[in-house]
Amino acid sequence: MEALGTPPNPLHVAVVGSGPSGFYAAEALLKSGLAVRVDMIERLPAPYGLVRYGVAPDHPKLKEPILLYSAIARLPHFSLLGNVAVGRDVSVEELRAHYHAVVFTCGAQTDRQLGIPGENLSGSHTATEFVAWYNGHPDYRDHSFDLSQEVVVIVGQGNVAADLCRILAKSVDELTTTDIARHALDALAGSKVREIHVIGRRGPAQAKFTNKELKELGELANCDAIVDPRDLELDAASRAEIEAKANFVAAKNVEILRQFAAQAASGKPRRLFFHFLKSPTALAGTDRVEHVVLARNRLDGEPFKQVARETAETEMLRCGLVFRSIGYSGVPIPGVPFDPRRGVFPTQDGRIVDGAGAVMPGLYAAGWIKRGPTGIIGTNRADSVSTVKTLLADVVQLPPIKEPGPDGLRRLLSARGVRTVSVEDWMKIDALEVARGQPAGKPREKFTRVAEMLQCLNVG
Ligand SMILES: Cc1cc2nc3c(=O)[nH]c(=O)nc-3n(C[C@H](O)[C@H](O)[C@H](O)COP(=O)(O)OP(=O)(O)OC[C@H]3O[C@@H](n4cnc5c(N)ncnc54)[C@H](O)[C@@H]3O)c2cc1C
Ligand SMILES: NC(=O)c1ccc[n+]([C@@H]2O[C@H](COP(=O)([O-])OP(=O)(O)OC[C@H]3O[C@@H](n4cnc5c(N)ncnc54)[C@H](OP(=O)(O)O)[C@@H]3O)[C@@H](O)[C@H]2O)c1
Repeated sequence: MEALGTPPNPLHVAVVGSGPSGFYAAEALLKSGLAVRVDMIERLPAPYGLVRYGVAPDHPKLKEPILLYSAIARLPHFSLLGNVAVGRDVSVEELRAHYHAVVFTCGAQTDRQLGIPGENLSGSHTATEFVAWYNGHPDYRDHSFDLSQEVVVIVGQGNVAADLCRILAKSVDELTTTDIARHALDALAGSKVREIHVIGRRGPAQAKFTNKELKELGELANCDAIVDPRDLELDAASRAEIEAKANFVAAKNVEILRQFAAQAASGKPRRLFFHFLKSPTALAGTDRVEHVVLARNRLDGEPFKQVARETAETEMLRCGLVFRSIGYSGVPIPGVPFDPRRGVFPTQDGRIVDGAGAVMPGLYAAGWIKRGPTGIIGTNRADSVSTVKTLLADVVQLPPIKEPGPDGLRRLLSARGVRTVSVEDWMKIDALEVARGQPAGKPREKFTRVAEMLQCLNVG
């Protein structure tokens, strides 16, 4: 038999997940110089992961990586098997029988928990749910949020929290020509939200916003950003942090927050309040959330290692809607080791390892399921390239397969009645979404149900 990775004996790789890390891994494999066949397996009929279902609709420029991903999808020897969930429609063992290697790029599909009383009261939601709902993710199509409430609390001060603040603070006119899902636009049209409170457990120097996203919150047409100047008095360790050259983002954030604090509220219909050094300790209410109990914190520790410690001082903040935006978490797939504490598949140099640290031959990971839920779209490129480098270094020792990838897997899926979505199928759905958006001046009107997307494939 010819060497693996040569045209008579190509390397068959399954990439699980079609977000940024999946496409960057596929690109690195297909441009490696070896003979490689990539099958990308995606549980939804629509590809692109969080670029489609996470990136905020009012930030269309940040969705432009999709242009690159659609070009990768058209490379020779790339196939998409959309509408196929690993762990539901096909097992990891079955994939291992058909592919020399499996690269998991399945992201972080759920949210972290605060672990406080009342967390699951009606009116308390995760950012994951709200983001996926306004972006038209089919799993969240039928969720509802009580936007008749005037006061909203958002826990967490990262860029996802910033996205939520904008979507809640903007007028419908500002969102109407974006790709926001129609059901969300209709619900937001009736929004009574007047006050948004965004809560950080640490201080202004530790907020995780990037500068551009924070600055934008002070430039909203419909909403005043409000910061209490007393909250910007930094402790010595925080001063040391923002004086460190490499920490320029935090220094700039503090400067932006000082500008917000110096600005007088101009009477816009909505107000966004920044709170620092406060942790929710309980959500309370009779049938639904009516207020959040906040403990005042102090910072403890050396610069860059400061943690929030609760003091005995507490306050009650009345509110009718709470969003917990404290980070995402991966979910396990049977047959793959999982680290529940970090919410990731444990790896060494991109190779998946079991609890004892032993390598699982042929299994790799990249992106959020490998690193955890941090980093912007571009961060995933270097990560996927490094995992693929490891995989290619392993080629000579990869386990043999029973039958080459696509044929065996397609037969198995078809026997199970799974309607797979190919690149050509997706292009058809994509074109219909774009056409549906045109009358309203939207870049697209997404289909928000799996059945609707599959129905498109039976038309014409
Ligand atoms: C709300 C939000 C907004 C963001 N906005 C920006 C932004 O504006 N700019 C920016 O640079 N970064 C942004 N990011 C970060 C960026 O989206 C991530 O860095 C990136 O998407 C992570 O890529 P990934 O491929 O690891 O995961 P994902 O993008 O989550 O892709 C994972 C894919 O795997 C699929 N999948 C999961 N399980 C299975 C399974 N069992 N079988 C088959 N398929 C499966 C999922 O359906 C999904 O398509 C944002 C993140 C969030 C959460
Ligand atoms: N426009 C963009 O570029 C964009 C948009 C959205 C997302 N993203 C990226 O996507 C990634 C994920 O964003 P994210 O906002 O989900 O995560 P994040 O940046 O990690 O922010 C999470 C926030 O939650 C807080 N938090 C965590 N656990 C908490 C707890 N138990 N109690 C109270 N607060 C808690 C964190 O505070 P501590 O610091 O104290 O832990 C932090 O303020 C980031 O890398 C982000 O930059 C980028």
